[in-house]
Amino acid sequence: MKLLVLGGTVFLSAAVAAEGVRRGHDVTCACRGASGSVPEGARLVAWDRAAGAPPPAITALEPDAVVDVARHPSWVRAAVDALPASHWVFVSTVNVYADNATPGGRAGTIPLVEAVHTDEDPSSGPEVYGAMKVGCEAAVASGAASSTIVRPGLVAGPGDPSGRFTYWPLRLAEGGETLAGGAPTDVVQIIDVRDLAAWIVTCAEQRTSGVFDGVGPATGVGDLLAEVTDGVSSDAVLTWVPDDALADAGVQPWAGEDGLPLWLPRPEYDGMLSHDVEPSYAAGLVTRPVAETARDTLAWARQHPVGARTGLSREHEQRVLAAWRTTRK
Ligand SMILES: NC(=O)c1ccc[n+]([C@@H]2O[C@H](COP(=O)([O-])OP(=O)(O)OC[C@H]3O[C@@H](n4cnc5c(N)ncnc54)[C@H](OP(=O)(O)O)[C@@H]3O)[C@@H](O)[C@H]2O)c1
Repeated sequence: MKLLVLGGTVFLSAAVAAEGVRRGHDVTCACRGASGSVPEGARLVAWDRAAGAPPPAITALEPDAVVDVARHPSWVRAAVDALPASHWVFVSTVNVYADNATPGGRAGTIPLVEAVHTDEDPSSGPEVYGAMKVGCEAAVASGAASSTIVRPGLVAGPGDPSGRFTYWPLRLAEGGETLAGGAPTDVVQIIDVRDLAAWIVTCAEQRTSGVFDGVGPATGVGDLLAEVTDGVSSDAVLTWVPDDALADAGVQPWAGEDGLPLWLPRPEYDGMLSHDVEPSYAAGLVTRPVAETARDTLAWARQHPVGARTGLSREHEQRVLAAWRTTRK
């Protein structure tokens, strides 16, 4: 198969290109090459999508399948217009959903936010980002010969520039009393970047038509963190601090420098990380154990210590735990 990856120098799109090469496909990556190099065995064609239409080297390629991770609707429209005959796998996000509270949803059962078809700043917040992804999805659905739309939840694993899962393997590997947020029964789900990439390549090979969530199995966060603890061979012990005490201590949910990853306000976000994975399994997704993701993520993070700063500092964590001990007395 001739596979065109629009991206290929970062995390997921790089993993897709690597998986395509591993399966013996003819893989071309089109991007600026500003964020890194493409995987060995793939070729890079330089294209700055902000500067306009694809170069002749892309339009002449006639790929069997295109994988796109873009956030800007005009970028996706330009690419689909140039390559309408290919099968498209568009990587969207669960931020397209207007309802984050209802657990067990899947594509088709949860309403979408209204589409934005113009290019806004996707880093201005999840609402704008999600709305632009709905616009991108629409461009693919209306312009491509056939398409798979994949809406990932939290993507984890080696190479993650966000640090939103990596915090946990690193923290739990240190051992000792460890701050955990909310209740152990709060449901969460992650997907290993390598499993998501493998499934995306399968969808490209099989020209799978449909809209799916790119998620792993939903589980209580207590069970997930126990698997992470196993994966990094740690003796860490979790102390669960409820939402209001964390908020009082200046801990932010989800991400950021004072953020506690995987902790989300409840019940408002009961649905965001509890999608129904069964339709994706039926379409060929295979997921590995969380312990394996944790072990490999830890190994990668130790080799790449200068990553995104996500997750509260140890000093902040210990202050929160000390305040909680005082409260409980
Ligand atoms: N991480 C998560 O937990 C999560 C959750 C839900 C959805 N998602 C989705 O999953 C996908 C992640 O993709 P990703 O890991 O590959 O990272 P990404 O940051 O979405 O995409 C990075 C790729 O886009 C290319 N790019 C950026 N600006 C460009 C430009 N002006 N022209 C051409 N190419 C450009 C980059 O190459 P150069 O910079 O080298 O040009 C790089 O290869 C995205 O679609 C994201 O929305 C992620």
